[in-house]
Amino acid sequence: MSHAEDNAGTRRDFLYFATAGAGAVATGAAVWPLINQMNPSADVQALSSIFVDVSAVEVGTQLTVKWLGKPVFIRRRTPEEIEAARATALSDLPDAKGENANKPDADAADQNRTLDEAGEWLVMMGVCTHLGCVPLGDGSGDFGGWFCPCHGSHYDTAGRIRKGPAPRNLPVPVAAFENETTIKLG
Ligand code: FES
Repeated sequence: MSHAEDNAGTRRDFLYFATAGAGAVATGAAVWPLINQMNPSADVQALSSIFVDVSAVEVGTQLTVKWLGKPVFIRRRTPEEIEAARATALSDLPDAKGENANKPDADAADQNRTLDEAGEWLVMMGVCTHLGCVPLGDGSGDFGGWFCPCHGSHYDTAGRIRKGPAPRNLPVPVAAFENETTIKLG
């Protein structure tokens, strides 16, 4: 079995949405060993862009796609999740940086991490910033966002670390709406 088939055919823990992405994901996986960091450089991302159809993602649910060999969470947040994230003071955040590749200098205010201004769409690498486990979603943890069961890191509804050993917020990769129902990663 080729490497590409192995990635596309046997990994059941991620949803692959129909796009040009099937080929792009295989390419990304193949080059991953050369990239030893969570947020690959812009030139690598440009080579490995994928398009994700989000038309079936309901409010209050999350789609996980694999990109560059890593899970990416695409969450369509509820009004309550948005409100909770926006009501949080920056002084309550262990990591005050936005950790958003689209806005490198921005702080961790919720508005600086979401894909759209209203804050409905949140796209993040699904990789705990402690030692790299995949956090659980769907309102997990003490802050209603994500919880990493490996060593107990709690992330809020904006994917910001709030409690536990993880040092940084979940990184937001280069991402943008290509059209109303398609998000481009990279
Ligand atoms: S890897 Fe997530 S808490 Fe350690």
